[in-house]
Amino acid sequence: MTDLTLPATRPVNPRFSSGPCAKLPGYALDMLSDAPLGRSHRAAVGKARLKRAIDQTRKVLNIPNTHRIGIVPASDTGAVEMAMWSMLGARPVQMLAWESFGEGWVTDAVKQLKLDAKVSKAGYGEIVDFAAVDFDRDVVFTWNGTTSGVRVAPGTEIPANRAGLTICDATSAAFAMDLPWDRLDVTTFSWQKVLGGEGGHGMLVLGPRAVERLESYVPDRPLPKIFRMTKGGKLIEGIFEGETINTPSMLAVEDYLVALDWAERIGGLPALIARADANAGAVRDFIAARDWIADLAVDPATASTTSVCLQFTDPAIKDGAAFAKAVAKRLEKEGVALDIGAYRDAPPGLRIWCGSTVETADVAALMPWVEWAYRSELAAQA
Ligand SMILES: Cc1ncc(COP(=O)(O)O)c(C=O)c1O
Repeated sequence: MTDLTLPATRPVNPRFSSGPCAKLPGYALDMLSDAPLGRSHRAAVGKARLKRAIDQTRKVLNIPNTHRIGIVPASDTGAVEMAMWSMLGARPVQMLAWESFGEGWVTDAVKQLKLDAKVSKAGYGEIVDFAAVDFDRDVVFTWNGTTSGVRVAPGTEIPANRAGLTICDATSAAFAMDLPWDRLDVTTFSWQKVLGGEGGHGMLVLGPRAVERLESYVPDRPLPKIFRMTKGGKLIEGIFEGETINTPSMLAVEDYLVALDWAERIGGLPALIARADANAGAVRDFIAARDWIADLAVDPATASTTSVCLQFTDPAIKDGAAFAKAVAKRLEKEGVALDIGAYRDAPPGLRIWCGSTVETADVAALMPWVEWAYRSELAAQA
């Protein structure tokens, strides 16, 4: 008979959502008590906090001084689209996509901006061949495909002498993976992923070549105010010093600062990366010993260490989508895992966020529950 006994240990924190992600360990709202609420973000106190968010981001991520860092509207999407709308069209474009967010940027380029772009795609679980990418084009890509659990392999070569710009959506990679800043002309991320911050604000990191593009190219399209980064052909430097284009949430800024302080306290980027690696390792150690569940990522070299996507491979399962949904529901009902169903456009399965705010002990405690839910669902199906 199949053992359907409930596992003895529960994750202390059942939050494994891929965004917004778990708050940092020990998080409490009173950590935000220094937020300058009810004050202008343009007052000295507000501007200082925004500037600190930029400076501390640079410190934790080791972003070189050659690069500008701006806090921009509309989260990661805002940051990516701001770059695409402001910079693309100057030269040929190559779009890379291997899951739904990358596909979204393809739609932007082809259907909205109507660019004559070369589009390179890979299916869920795989990645495009970077050796075949033409970096003399402007290349837009996602570092970590949040919905497929596939990332750019560490050490992937992006040429130093490229003629095009690289525009990289790194929202589920930044703070958990090493990013080659000198090869990334535009990098974007948001606060609610690896650091467990709040949504709404995007981070836009511009290298010198991106600034050069902004100052030398005027796209033949209207740009809304929230996309405009230049005035009179010059970069608006204030945006990259904390003078945001429009009003940010100072509560969300404070929350980000608290997360950055935590990141520094635990040892900075190496410690953040090690935590995500250990979390993803706990999932993969568990599934390696089982034949009914597998990584959606086909190649360990490109397997994500933040958004780990799994699929049920037991041939006894009749309806894969319904099965995966039912497993996620059981786990949620038991209060051991919230929001871990696969993304709506992705193959059916589970997606377990393993970013740096998640505790490895919680991931390890979750996995026997996944087995329990799988066995329970299989029994129910029979
Ligand atoms: C790879 C990727 N790009 C973009 C987004 C959209 O981010 P936001 O909601 O911060 O705009 C997400 C959200 O999950 C994502 O995972």
